[in-house]
Amino acid sequence: MENDKGSEYGPLYFELNTGAKMPSVGLGTWKAPPGVVGDAVIAAVKAGYRHIDCARVYDNEKEVGVALKELFSTNVVKRSEIWITSKLWCSDHAPEDVSKALSKTLEDLQLDYVDLYLMHWPFRTKPGSRGFAPEIMAPLCLPETWSAMEGLFASGQARAIGVSNFSTKKLENLLAFAKVTPSVNQVECHPEWQQPALHNICKSTGVHLSAYSPLGSPGSWVKGETLKDSTLIEIAKKLNKSPAQVALRWGIQSGHSVLPKSVNESRIKENLSLFDWCIPQDLFSKISSIHQRRLLRGEFAVHETLSPYKSLQELWDGEI
Ligand code: A2P
Repeated sequence: MENDKGSEYGPLYFELNTGAKMPSVGLGTWKAPPGVVGDAVIAAVKAGYRHIDCARVYDNEKEVGVALKELFSTNVVKRSEIWITSKLWCSDHAPEDVSKALSKTLEDLQLDYVDLYLMHWPFRTKPGSRGFAPEIMAPLCLPETWSAMEGLFASGQARAIGVSNFSTKKLENLLAFAKVTPSVNQVECHPEWQQPALHNICKSTGVHLSAYSPLGSPGSWVKGETLKDSTLIEIAKKLNKSPAQVALRWGIQSGHSVLPKSVNESRIKENLSLFDWCIPQDLFSKISSIHQRRLLRGEFAVHETLSPYKSLQELWDGEI
């Protein structure tokens, strides 16, 4: 993918509030298993991807780092030509742990900086803990955590900072105390969960919305069926594209970047073949009639006494 706005079927990238150009399609690595993720990264970059979405909690950053090193040393791509995102895990929200967490990610990825570092969730677990469970919840300290994230931005180790899984209200709350406005809010977004209210607030505040699970997460425990939606299938048939391509193209045309995960070379290529066609307006508007439901609901973050969020309503501030 060329990193320039050359095509009438773009955009190939979105410009963030830092001025940086983030490629509009990134390879998702959540659920990409060890032993496989490195080959997927290599296949993706060779196919033209210039954006890889990572996270410490995916437990595969070391292997991604080995793949990146190989791509750099064999001159397939230069560091400056590729966008790497990673995320701060919930157990590292204590201000003194934020910098250590990014250092570990940089060590694993074998990089000097990430292009974007996101706070993965708006809640906190005990230092050293793994996963989610009510008994490891810890009190929130979002202003202090964000301030430490701002320190990483100032140091240049994170060239942009942002958040993930923030509702409209949580984003507005953060904006009220942030000295550095987040560049990105990475959230679930696909034709079955279009997030119009969040889109609006992101647009009006200059925060870019980036979509995880842009295919509706068919491979996770929720076994999403977005790609089986009859409207999507009908549009795909009319355009001679796959439902996955229509879902991704819909995202880009809606103004957000998309992060499809795949470890299969032909699907990796299919998911980037989005820039020599578009969804015409009459078909595009049909997608807004698709029944809406949040698939990745975050039940694990909810507990009546131990979590700051006593219900899904509180976690998502009603956007559920
Ligand atoms: P695979 O890795 O075997 O390709 P999401 O990004 O919404 O979480 O979706 C990821 C899931 O969708 C994975 O299970 C992935 O499987 C599958 N997938 C990725 N690309 C496609 C595609 N073009 N068509 C159908 N399924 C896809």
